[in-house]
Amino acid sequence: MSIDVRRFYTPKVLPETVPSGIEGLDKILLGGFPRGAVVLLAGNPGTGKSTFAARFVYEGCRRGERSIYLNFVEPRRDFYDHMTMLGMDFEECERKGLFHYMEAVTIADEDALITQLEDLVKLVMETKAKRVAIDSITAMLQIVKVPSRVRELLQNIFVNGFKPHQVTTVLIAEHPYGAKVVGYGIEEFIVDAVFILKYRLSRGKIQRVLEIRKARWAPIHQAEFPFRIKPGIVIDISLPEEPEEIPPLDYSRTISLCDTLFRVHGLVELGIGAKEITRAASICDYLHIAKGSQVLIGVSPVIHSTLVLSTIASSLMLMGEDILIVSFKNSSKSIADMLECSLRVVGSPDEKPLPNVVSVNPTVYTLVELIDLISSAIDQFKPSILLVDGLEAIEVVETRKERYYASLYNLLVRSKKKGVTGFYLYSVPSRVQLKELPVTPLFELSIYIEANPRSIVEYEYEPLGLETSMEVYHPLIHVKIPVRFRTNNLLQFCTRV
Ligand SMILES: Nc1ncnc2c1ncn2[C@@H]1O[C@H](COP(=O)(O)OP(=O)(O)O)[C@@H](O)[C@H]1O
Ligand SMILES: [Mg+2]
Repeated sequence: MSIDVRRFYTPKVLPETVPSGIEGLDKILLGGFPRGAVVLLAGNPGTGKSTFAARFVYEGCRRGERSIYLNFVEPRRDFYDHMTMLGMDFEECERKGLFHYMEAVTIADEDALITQLEDLVKLVMETKAKRVAIDSITAMLQIVKVPSRVRELLQNIFVNGFKPHQVTTVLIAEHPYGAKVVGYGIEEFIVDAVFILKYRLSRGKIQRVLEIRKARWAPIHQAEFPFRIKPGIVIDISLPEEPEEIPPLDYSRTISLCDTLFRVHGLVELGIGAKEITRAASICDYLHIAKGSQVLIGVSPVIHSTLVLSTIASSLMLMGEDILIVSFKNSSKSIADMLECSLRVVGSPDEKPLPNVVSVNPTVYTLVELIDLISSAIDQFKPSILLVDGLEAIEVVETRKERYYASLYNLLVRSKKKGVTGFYLYSVPSRVQLKELPVTPLFELSIYIEANPRSIVEYEYEPLGLETSMEVYHPLIHVKIPVRFRTNNLLQFCTRV
């Protein structure tokens, strides 16, 4: 019997929302900001606050709502130029009468500020603007100096004045992360939401993060979301699809591990002598995995992973599967060449196209980007099998281990949910080390493929035959099967005369 998780969570009556235009954020916020909300956007310089606020205002223009951007820090020309580079044409919005830019960079004293704010209120009322951005209230604080006065101004204009007219406001604060945002209780009393933009350096690369500190109307359980600034999308939030429940495996659709791993005619041989072959073959009857299983394959570093990769890929192709290969250590070309060779040995299925191969150097990406990349490749190619080559290589990318395990686990659950069976090749020196890896328990099954160099010498008639043994750790059985990779067969086919 299954229990509906949602039973433990009571949905609220949702307010009418204003989409921020930031897709992922609107999803988390159940549609966007409530109409009339005051949103505080805080963060250090360069974290993307102006860009974020501009995106919110621009969404108004796209939806035919009038918007105003009051800027105390940036001259009109700079703002327009910067936003044009990000794909937001505010001049066009202005021509349509949907946007007003108020440049207030020369305001120096309190009187001028009051006049400016009065102008803002007048313009909002005249144009019936529905979205306003203030960049920034920190600049206002520098002019007024008395925090209680600023608080009073903010309260009067944005809460008492704009809210009843359903004007949604974004207030920017130039404040470092961790500091009390405005320091004078503004966040507690006035605003409906507090967002903090931060950036971290991850191996010298910027990783921007949005933290939702407060959002009165939405139940938030995850608070930090990595994002990127990108022309077109502007604020691109990574929202991993997180299945709340662990999806069940479908045992009515299974894959034979023996067929996948070594019953490939001419390429890999099961067992060494006749007796062993029979014994191993009988074990194979038990070695079936449900579709959607996630399998970790530890490979001894002396065996080149493309050999294992092409063997698995070609047998799965013969079984009619659609394969996506993501490699973190081999080029698409070397994988494609190797695959072509093994297909020539085993006999290529005519109707099947070659697997899609995505090859990336993991060190130029952050972990979130890598997991994103795999997920979007799955969405794009819709494979039935995912083959990951060099899983160990992405571990170096994220130093915070808990984060890495959580992301990997999420990827496994997502693949399972989509019914994609995963094989993850991991180069590791011994089966003992494979068993001790913290990631191993996350998989349904682990296999270790070990080379046995002794045999290379023993089989003189086939000097390149590589005797290996394969150990399978199944929840119910642990078997060790001798296997011979006939690398020379492969090499004969691959050597061009
Ligand atoms: N086309 C772009 N692609 C990627 N990043 C950009 C682009 N244009 C600007 N940025 C980044 O956006 C940042 C500026 O964001 P901004 O919204 O002005 O920050 P803040 O208002 O918090 O100071 C810059 O640091 C820059 O790195
Ligand atoms: Mg700014």
